[in-house]
Amino acid sequence: MSRLIVRGGTKLQGELEVYNAKNCVLALLAASILTEEKVILHKCPMIADVYSMIKILDDIGVKVEWQNDSLLIDSQLLNRYEISPNYAKEVRSSIFLMGSILGRLKKVNAVFPGGCDIGLRPIDLHLKGLRALNISIQEYGGYLYCDGQSAHGGAVHLDFPSVGATENIILASVLLDGITVITNVAKEPEIVALQDFLVAMGAHISGAGTSTIVVEGVKKLHGVEFTPIPDRIIAGTYLIAGAFTGGDLLIKNCRPQDMKALISKMDDCCGRITEYHDCIHIKSVPRPTSIKAIETQPFPGFPTDLQTQILALQTISNGVSMIVENIFETRFKHVAELTKLGADIVVRDRVALVRGVKTLRGAEVFAHDLRGGAALVLAGLRAEGQTVINNIRHIDRGYYKLDEALNSVGADIVREVDL
Ligand code: UD1
Repeated sequence: MSRLIVRGGTKLQGELEVYNAKNCVLALLAASILTEEKVILHKCPMIADVYSMIKILDDIGVKVEWQNDSLLIDSQLLNRYEISPNYAKEVRSSIFLMGSILGRLKKVNAVFPGGCDIGLRPIDLHLKGLRALNISIQEYGGYLYCDGQSAHGGAVHLDFPSVGATENIILASVLLDGITVITNVAKEPEIVALQDFLVAMGAHISGAGTSTIVVEGVKKLHGVEFTPIPDRIIAGTYLIAGAFTGGDLLIKNCRPQDMKALISKMDDCCGRITEYHDCIHIKSVPRPTSIKAIETQPFPGFPTDLQTQILALQTISNGVSMIVENIFETRFKHVAELTKLGADIVVRDRVALVRGVKTLRGAEVFAHDLRGGAALVLAGLRAEGQTVINNIRHIDRGYYKLDEALNSVGADIVREVDL
């Protein structure tokens, strides 16, 4: 079990560059197999979740190669319609492959997907949406046997604007006969990027970024070269790191327009935040004031993927903060760990009440999931003495060398690798 050892107390200062978004790259990797022609994705993060997705693709006959930080995808020889259960359990986004394999081969066998343990994470909306396209799905022994021979466009209403279900249904419908209208869809920037990508491949899709998406099926898609969007969650994590340490950071390659919910909350309490076209500058006060209330919501609301980090920031802020997690049922696992550092937090169901303390003290803690793990690193930056964060494989799933990035702006983090 590898660990990060953070010696807290330094102020972060300088420039950090954000790479492109994991959640965008994973959806685009799935979408790439909708054409037999080659696809190139630029500036992709070399992180565990991307490697897991590449393993799944390789297993079904798709060739994926790195060329520096670009991914070259060639799915001409895609020939298997079974997603290996071993790989699918590692990464949640294996679920989108259902839609795209169905699009190419009209058939797919899959299992219930893995990913962070942050709640129930059912896939009922995915299945209901696919069935509305006349795809037959048999569930048996944890497997999903899907047959899309008679599939055609249809009307799909999502009971909740699920990101993954929206992506999956788009992918399943792009190559179908007829028109698919999906209502109450997710409006996340990654959905807009997926639409842009597919349109660049010759698909007819409109509406991404609003609550209704219309897909007019086409016979064929062609290859494309595309740059995914920057990672708004990484950018947000860096912004919070700046505020945590009373720092002065310029965060480059990000899109402030995708981060409004975070910036507007932090702006009032953390110092001066200046937005530019593709970067954000934070000049933080030494100790932030508490943000009174934060509630996670689907985009454009406050992202659940930044809840753990902003909650951690409240532990040293001046005042009391109430944080409501509306998206995932068990996304407060980092709270017990933060308490070991001296944080004052009470959790009831989906609400956390955080009373800011002046000082956190280093301790040994465990990362239970990706974003919760990142939150512990941020807290370690502020804590007195040494914080040891175990189980960092979770963090590495979504952050490319977080320790090195933070060290480049003044942090003191050592990685200990157990072989
Ligand atoms: C995606 C992101 C994840 C982010 C989440 C919410 C990827 C790879 N992951 O996850 O980082 O935290 O969006 O912004 O892009 N739900 C159902 N039934 C379903 C599907 C979802 O009830 O069939 C529920 C979930 O349990 C959850 C909520 O809907 O409570 C949101 O989930 P969803 O938007 O689907 O998240 P993911 O696509 O899994």
